[in-house]
Amino acid sequence: MLEKLKDILQRARQDIERASDLDALDEIKRKYLGRSKGELTALSKKLGSLPKEERPTAGRLVNEAKKEITSKLKSLADKFSKSDALLEHGRLKSSVDPSLPGRTRAYGRLHPITQVMSEICQVFQVMGFSIADGPEVEEDFYNFEALNIPPDHPARDMQDTFYIEEDKILLRTHTSPIQIRAMKTMSPPVRIVAPGKVYRCDSDVTHTPMFHQVEGLMVDKNVSFSQLKGTLTQFIHRMFEPSTKVRFRPSYFPFTEPSAEVDIQCVKCHGAGCRLCGHTGWMEVLGAGMVHPAVFRNVGYDPDEISGFAFGLGVERIAMLKYSIDDIRLFYDNDIRFLDQF
Ligand code: DAH
Repeated sequence: MLEKLKDILQRARQDIERASDLDALDEIKRKYLGRSKGELTALSKKLGSLPKEERPTAGRLVNEAKKEITSKLKSLADKFSKSDALLEHGRLKSSVDPSLPGRTRAYGRLHPITQVMSEICQVFQVMGFSIADGPEVEEDFYNFEALNIPPDHPARDMQDTFYIEEDKILLRTHTSPIQIRAMKTMSPPVRIVAPGKVYRCDSDVTHTPMFHQVEGLMVDKNVSFSQLKGTLTQFIHRMFEPSTKVRFRPSYFPFTEPSAEVDIQCVKCHGAGCRLCGHTGWMEVLGAGMVHPAVFRNVGYDPDEISGFAFGLGVERIAMLKYSIDDIRLFYDNDIRFLDQF
């Protein structure tokens, strides 16, 4: 009996030493201390068959063996469950929780004015115009002189123009100087649109000190006013609804003769009158006309040989009409809630 006990105890110690997780400890417990099949349990059941004088010693030894195994199993179990918990914690920390809401990425995009400006250019490109460019810091000659704007013209007033060097260098007040630059470098036929920033000393709900224009110029033999009307009407019908009403009003520009201002019916109030259209039902979007002979002479073209039309449009105005925006400054406040809508 004592031999058997020694053997059981020895094997139990070995098993415990080799155990590496809680499952192994359970197995060992079942193997030696299990109520029905445990080896030590079976041994203690046999105590009663021993001679009376051997029983107390044998009983004590069996109990001691049980105690040793139980306490070793318990301390190991504590150790294992602690490291299990640590492991579990680490796993949670590094794992992906698929129930979390997705993280959205904020994408940048083109400013609404840039979008509208390229849309305008595209409409004209489809009609055969190409893109031209010019400097924002411009010479008086290109901005005024060559465009037949005499020195005493109100447009030269210090209040409208940002001068860098008085009467010489300025921030261009319109994109029309690009007409001059284009004609000076090309010979007819010329068919260009020129988008860009322009600057004027002006600020209210419909004016900002910097705004955008797209200039247009077509020069060839026999270019007529009806071609100007057709081109601009077509442009408006492509930019807005094809049924948009267009109005040509006689006007005056020093660099065109005859000149016209082009209005479209207010898209917000449909002609009834509102803040956006200044209660007229119409909104001016374009200045246009037949290129003045003096302008042709200034760039070395012969006005008896060729003719041409030109136009200049305000990009902000077009964008305001297109999206029913009643304050131009919204474009430049950079409020993300506004910009997000485009
Ligand atoms: N440059 C003019 C302005 O800024 C707009 C304009 C009018 C341009 C008539 C043109 C034109 O080319 O023919 O108000």
